[in-house]
Amino acid sequence: MLQDRRGYAISNADAQALELYETALRQYQSYVGDAVATIDQALAARPDFVLGHVFRAGVLMTFGEQRFARHARASAEAATALDSAANERERMLTAATRKLVDGDWDGACAAYDRVLVDYPRDIFAIQTAHLFDFVRGDALNLRNRIARVLPHWSAGVPGHSYLLGMYAFGLEECNQYAEAMDTAQRALAIEPRDGWAVHAGVHVFEMRGRIDDGIHWLASRERDWAPDNGFAFHNWWHLALFHLDRGDHGRALELYDTAIYPSGSDLSLTLVDATSLLWRLHLLGFDVGARFARLADVWEAKLEVERGFYAFNDVHAMLAFAVTRASPPSCSCWATWSPYKRLRPGTSPTRR
Ligand SMILES: [Fe+2]
Repeated sequence: MLQDRRGYAISNADAQALELYETALRQYQSYVGDAVATIDQALAARPDFVLGHVFRAGVLMTFGEQRFARHARASAEAATALDSAANERERMLTAATRKLVDGDWDGACAAYDRVLVDYPRDIFAIQTAHLFDFVRGDALNLRNRIARVLPHWSAGVPGHSYLLGMYAFGLEECNQYAEAMDTAQRALAIEPRDGWAVHAGVHVFEMRGRIDDGIHWLASRERDWAPDNGFAFHNWWHLALFHLDRGDHGRALELYDTAIYPSGSDLSLTLVDATSLLWRLHLLGFDVGARFARLADVWEAKLEVERGFYAFNDVHAMLAFAVTRASPPSCSCWATWSPYKRLRPGTSPTRR
């Protein structure tokens, strides 16, 4: 039976499917490349590739949007239908991923943990649980989940540097700043393009109020973390916050236009950062022109599908509406939502 590069058996696969799976895993970890497109290639050739379906479902869920979750559900169901041909690890991964698509994100992270007890080098389980620890605000597991599996990894195992990057972020979230910076630098010494490890360092500087050092950290590494990296928008956002801390709102807006939200994207991940930067500028009294109105339009177009799926997105949509709309968008969920009424223009205590 075929094994992946971490030594675990894979069912219903051939050499090509395995190669594409390994590529997709690297893309998932590094944010460089399109992991879903890669795994789709594998599934086109091997529709019975269990791990391919599980992987596709997990990655789609990390976008935090209902429209992708619908596709994730179909993939999780396809994996479930192949349970009889799957090995124990694959069945456990399928069960954990089904919890994700069913909205039980706590249960899913616990289920991924059970996979990791017996298969501590399953990097798909680690990465997916880490990202959902992040969106659930589970700071302890951002650190401890990685700490539990680290003894089973070594420098020669593919993906080790990304694990260190995750550990660095977990340490930072648990306020262990010196250890976090040391670990981020170890990760980046192996893989300088790891945007997540760069991000861990950014958070250390942010939490310590070392604004100029944070700017230098990002600027000096820009050629590593910025080009063609799907996570770069968030590190650009952090750079804008540093400039805002310096009082340079002009530079923050420039970064908004050129790097954080240059293209009118309707991805919630980017909309959230764009919105929260404009919200800060708004609260500080700066004129952001028509930017907020454009964001509100994009949020409004997503409401019917996305409302109520992920509270973090909803709150950011609400911020855009509160600044730009004289009345709630034509969606019953907002019209009856009392926090919106309290925050709408003209009634907000923060309105100047
Ligand atoms: Fe961040």
